Amino acid sequence: MTERGAAGAAAEPSAAEPPGADHAASGGVTILPVPGLPEFRPGDDLAGALATAAPWLADGDVVVVTSKVVSKVEGRLVRVPADPEERDAVRRHWVRAEAVSVIARRNRTLITENKLGIIQAASGVDASNVAGDEIALLPVDPDASAAALRARLAELLGVEVAVVVTDTMGRAWRVGQTDAAIGAAGLAVLHRYAGSVDRQGNSLVVTEVAVADEIAAAADLVKGKLGAVPVAVVRGLPTSDDGSKARDLARPVEDDLFRMGTAEAIAKGRAEALLVRRSVRAFTAEPVDRDLLRRAVGAALTAPAPHHTRPVRFVHVRERRTALLEAMRERWREDLRADGLSEEEVARRTARGDFLRDAPEIVLPFLVRSGAHAYPDERRAEAERTMFTIAGGAAVQGLLVALAAEGVGSCWVSSTIFCPDVVRAALDLPSSWEPLGAVAVGHPVEPLEARPLVEEGFVEL
Ligand SMILES: Cc1cc2nc3c(=O)[nH]c(=O)nc-3n(C[C@H](O)[C@H](O)[C@H](O)COP(=O)(O)O)c2cc1C
Repeated sequence: MTERGAAGAAAEPSAAEPPGADHAASGGVTILPVPGLPEFRPGDDLAGALATAAPWLADGDVVVVTSKVVSKVEGRLVRVPADPEERDAVRRHWVRAEAVSVIARRNRTLITENKLGIIQAASGVDASNVAGDEIALLPVDPDASAAALRARLAELLGVEVAVVVTDTMGRAWRVGQTDAAIGAAGLAVLHRYAGSVDRQGNSLVVTEVAVADEIAAAADLVKGKLGAVPVAVVRGLPTSDDGSKARDLARPVEDDLFRMGTAEAIAKGRAEALLVRRSVRAFTAEPVDRDLLRRAVGAALTAPAPHHTRPVRFVHVRERRTALLEAMRERWREDLRADGLSEEEVARRTARGDFLRDAPEIVLPFLVRSGAHAYPDERRAEAERTMFTIAGGAAVQGLLVALAAEGVGSCWVSSTIFCPDVVRAALDLPSSWEPLGAVAVGHPVEPLEARPLVEEGFVEL
């Protein structure tokens, strides 16, 4: 076989290539399969076999190696029992053992993140192209494997090649799998276009081409998946070595918009909605969005209530806040003086009401008992009152939870319950409206975090 005679996918040189620093090979690339490699076993000399099968390797070539053969020579094979169930159990054990976290789950398949930051199905644990009684794990450090292979090829053949170790991966949003780089040495794995300008004068601000992944996918076009050709050579690329590794292609979790599966993210959101609510008493100065408040109130009003009634109202107090709080404080002072407290103590106690003065917003819940059944006896009349009162509580809790689910803090305080006539007078409300406290609303100084479940209080009889 001549070096150019191998079956390969060659791109025609493009006359339309934009000038300037580009990752593209303006003269086209050739992708050469490396046939004739043996079936590798642990301890085999991969570099030696490659040097024998591809003595034509030249400076600047990118040697693209399927990770499976690296796993084999590095002894990353695990024996599995013949029994399909036991075999599956062993495979599942290794998927878990190789994972640092489970990103998503679809039926029995786990999408995991492994120690290298690689996110893929089944932690890369694979039974294809290995003996029937074995499964293969990914190489422990594919970047190191690539670097070692590159160094060894330089010794054996006197050539400066780059090496890419590949694995096959699924992709978010796209059907089908492609090969991607999990190990690399001797080439810049990313080509950053930041600062470049295209021929139309547009600045390329965010474009970063994952060159090593493109090489991996291109090489797969000649390697295939049926095992005969685990290595291909990409020739003609303008590679430069910036010391980067395939590890650099794993997006850090904190920058990842999609670090969980959709179903998992929804489930976590549902599970935590209730647990992120807590009484927030310190707010930032950031105003609360009116639409958000409306949404939260709308959600709260879906709370269950007796006889299909809607007995709760929420009043967003705006212009009348100061007048309302002044009137409430006056009543509070009267109550405390009647209790015999000193003026100093009265002032100290009523200062607690400043909390509602300083909160970015206050919302007052009210109960309107229309639709309640009338009973002739006190026992049932009392039960009916309780039913409506607890429905009010359910709606207020709903508001707090709906706000918390949007990251907004709140604190439900009792004050209005103690001076209903004062509140109604200050807000011009009918006598049938019973205040259920007040809710201070604002963006929390400390972000809301889910709390652990409460263990005590669940009784089984
Ligand atoms: C009906 C009701 C009245 C409350 N009144 C006040 C109050 O007047 N002042 C206050 O600071 N907190 C008040 N709270 C909040 C509780 O103190 C708070 O829920 C409790 O400390 C538990 O903390 P958490 O809400 O962060 O779980 C009230 C809560 C409820 C349900």
